Amino acid sequence: MIKPDLPDNFIVAIDGPAGSGKSTLAKRLAEKIDGVMIDTGAMYRAVTAKALDLNIDPADEKAVGKIAESIAIQFNKEGQARKIMVDGADFTARIRDNDVNESVSKVAVYPAVRRRMVALQRKMGGKGRIVMEGRDIGSNVFPDARFKFFLVADEQVRARRRMLEMSQAGIEVSLKQVMENIKTRDKTDSERKDAPLVKPPGAVEIDTGHLNIDEVLARMIQFLVSGGGQAA
Ligand code: DC
Repeated sequence: MIKPDLPDNFIVAIDGPAGSGKSTLAKRLAEKIDGVMIDTGAMYRAVTAKALDLNIDPADEKAVGKIAESIAIQFNKEGQARKIMVDGADFTARIRDNDVNESVSKVAVYPAVRRRMVALQRKMGGKGRIVMEGRDIGSNVFPDARFKFFLVADEQVRARRRMLEMSQAGIEVSLKQVMENIKTRDKTDSERKDAPLVKPPGAVEIDTGHLNIDEVLARMIQFLVSGGGQAA
């Protein structure tokens, strides 16, 4: 049992590109340490989905920024199922749709969107054992997080994972389509000015392409038990 050996309040920041295994690992790690997992990508997806549903063009920065400023996002846990509620409606499935996949990186570039999402994330991560995953958690949202991980994996591996995830959700797309989407998103996420995807200073890098989930989890837990890299 590692739970009693860890303090009650700390942040684990997990960053990495699309398909690097962040969500699966953040979820499993949070379960292991009796913590709360926060999927920040789901929040950018929520803004994108809400805008699309209101027939707002994702290229309309001002209108999308307005949505972000007033949106209410809540994560609910019902038994094993995790839900994302957007302005009171269940958006769990909606945020994984292909139109959202295609526009989310563009929306995540807008400073007004990032400002509000980061403020919400800091509030959500204020207390408890928090496992937060995204692109800028260890570099920008919680630069003083005690534990930081940066997950990487080969493009092919990541595309295959994404395809499997989508087909389990009933969405059929070709590997080629997924590869193209991943490449475009990697590029947009890494090249944007405001909090781009980078390996945060002090992060432990793990290549998830050559390890199974339990092996990655074991490495993460070992780092947590060892006390991590920083004081906060
Ligand atoms: O992890 P994901 O595929 O659900 O993320 C969706 C998009 O959101 C991704 O293209 C980049 C963006 N994102 C971000 O810019 N910052 C975060 N902290 C999390 C996600």
